[in-house]
Amino acid sequence: MSRLTDLIAKAKAQDPQLGADMEREFRALSSRLSFGLNFERHRPEAVELPQRPVRRGDKVRILASRNSTAKGDRRLWRVERLNKARGTADLVLLGDPKQETRTVKVDDLVVVAEFRDTIYPGLVSTGKVARGGDKPWHTVINGENYHALKALTWTHRGKVDAIYIDPPYNTGARDWKYNNDYVESDDLYRHSKWLAMMERRLLVAKDLLNPADSVLIVTIDEKEYLRLGLLLEQTFPEAKMQMISSVIKRGGTSRTKEFSRVEEYLYFLFFGAAELARTDDNMLEPPTVAAEVGLSESDLWEGMVRRGIGVVRAQRPKQFYPILIDAAAHRIVRAGESLAPEIDRRSIADAEGLTTVWPIKDDGTEGFWQLSRSGLAAAMARGTVRVGGFNKKTGQWRIQYMKAKKAKAVMAGAVATLGKDENGVVILDLGTSKLATESTPRTVWNKASHDASTGGAGLLNKLLPRRKFPFPKSLYAVEDALRFFVKDKPEAVVLDFFAGSGTTAHAVMRLNRQDGGRRTCISVTNNEVGAEEQMALRERGLRPGDGDWEALGICDYITKPRVRAAITGITPDDVPIKGDYKFTDEFPMAEGFEENAEFFTLTYEAPIGVSYQTAFARIAPLLWLRAGSVGRRVEKLPSAGWEVVDSYGLLVDLDGATDFLRAVRKAKSLRIAYIVTDDERRFQALSRRLPEGVEPIRLYESYLSNFAFANGDGA
Ligand SMILES: C[S@@+](CC[C@H](N)C(=O)[O-])C[C@H]1O[C@@H](n2cnc3c(N)ncnc32)[C@H](O)[C@@H]1O
Repeated sequence: MSRLTDLIAKAKAQDPQLGADMEREFRALSSRLSFGLNFERHRPEAVELPQRPVRRGDKVRILASRNSTAKGDRRLWRVERLNKARGTADLVLLGDPKQETRTVKVDDLVVVAEFRDTIYPGLVSTGKVARGGDKPWHTVINGENYHALKALTWTHRGKVDAIYIDPPYNTGARDWKYNNDYVESDDLYRHSKWLAMMERRLLVAKDLLNPADSVLIVTIDEKEYLRLGLLLEQTFPEAKMQMISSVIKRGGTSRTKEFSRVEEYLYFLFFGAAELARTDDNMLEPPTVAAEVGLSESDLWEGMVRRGIGVVRAQRPKQFYPILIDAAAHRIVRAGESLAPEIDRRSIADAEGLTTVWPIKDDGTEGFWQLSRSGLAAAMARGTVRVGGFNKKTGQWRIQYMKAKKAKAVMAGAVATLGKDENGVVILDLGTSKLATESTPRTVWNKASHDASTGGAGLLNKLLPRRKFPFPKSLYAVEDALRFFVKDKPEAVVLDFFAGSGTTAHAVMRLNRQDGGRRTCISVTNNEVGAEEQMALRERGLRPGDGDWEALGICDYITKPRVRAAITGITPDDVPIKGDYKFTDEFPMAEGFEENAEFFTLTYEAPIGVSYQTAFARIAPLLWLRAGSVGRRVEKLPSAGWEVVDSYGLLVDLDGATDFLRAVRKAKSLRIAYIVTDDERRFQALSRRLPEGVEPIRLYESYLSNFAFANGDGA
């Protein structure tokens, strides 16, 4: 039930008249349509934290008994007292005027974090795989993405270059939970719950994207694409948005009396200066023959007279000038002066021994050149303009040139050349050139490599034989989508907070291999166990939080092992992965990648009652992440009062400031100096003594208070 109707029901129970009045107002309001996407925000959202130990003051739910498949008590209780000896907790029912109390075994409780609660996130490392030398580390975080995103606002505010997410599609087929309940197809609030869930996360994600140049990519299918489009538009009014239709299942869905669906959608939101990297693939048609066997002359050279019906001389008088050529030698000699529109070109005499060529269109009318006089001079110097054949229609020699982007590709060596001819014009090595002419990618993608079953489930099955994950994306589809934005950013930071099987991290590693990049991917996903598996586990008497249950969760059972297998080239059964990668970069999967990845679980710290040393251990990975997740990490509070590692330094005891500063100055690739002090003036004084390029960041002495994230929207 929606939150508001819930509240009205409560009001009615206490004061029927007040309840009825409120209901009448609510009806009037909800029948009025306003512009934009209107939906119930369903406050507050809450998440169960089965692995978090129960502490005094916690909000908890009472679990159904073991072996039961019932939902259990949905009400929220507060822990008033813990009796350690008996293993019980005294609870009081939240929001209950009668203050109902109960004493329950701690084992039967699960901690709940409502999204309006302040949380103190931390990270615990659960393993790593290192094959990438000094490259920065990819990270995989097991956790509720809303809270993980909050933590990332401390480490990555404005620093993310690309977010790729593939959220639950809200199919009604138990593909996601709201407040720990599956959202079923008959749930009246199905769409608004989904929108509320998405909006909350997108608003935090917004703070992470680099406003000057970044992209948000969201995949979706026909169930929610309309609502998602509106939500994205109103959440990111500053972005330019496009929707791609992408064929992911050529065989189509088996439907009778309806069209058989073959595609899904990708929303691309461009922020700031974001633009597509150049490509030779238009994503719609198969690569042209030219791309496979080499280029033809006409791929690069074209006529220099601007064509088109509306093209007339008077539009660009500066580009109406004669080009003087040595016709016998096929050589451009020079450009004459531009001619004002009122001057008849026939009044200009030919230079002696040279032939004059005017910008005359095939229909005999006067047009203008594509290049200005200075553009022509630059093209002559480069060798990207030449005399072509004789044009009988105009009675003049043709002048041909290369458009700017093509000329640039030739200059950059992207198209092979055999030097210049006697007229200074470049000679293309067409037979060996593989680069097709550039193409603008289309909004419909039709690529066999994007097939979800072969490039997704089929490929995942090779990495993790027998482990099932529902609907992973094609690795190559994610790779292609990201390439458009991170191709020219070899150090890009990519984030996927609905990471599922970890396809995005895998795609980033492939992109790195293709150009030696050092991009990193942060993958966040929860440790959900599939609906069917849950039933089987419950029948075995297991519950969330039990080791055997959690071991089968998506993050621990699929995401982390998949990233590990991809890097090592070895399956979890210790066997080299069979098969080869296909498409852009083909090589045996058993080769793995020269990359580093570390695996974490998100923790929820208590603001009090934890030793500093323990608290610090949990935030240590956050300090390292903020400094670029590269090199060593300070894991413990340094006994010397300070420590400097590869990318950051930490000063805990200001008495050690002089030694600390000395070490900071010596270090080569330091990005951040963390200074722990409650004294603003001393912090400022120390900051001024840091070398240029080292960012000072102040931490309060009660470490966790630096990482307290209250919810902004009260949700
Ligand atoms: C559709 S899947 C993503 C699949 C992924 N693109 C792939 O190729 O494997 C969505 C994933 O988001 C995760 N998820 C859903 N809600 C979440 C939440 N609130 N916090 C963290 N992860 C969540 C689930 O673990 C699920 O696997």
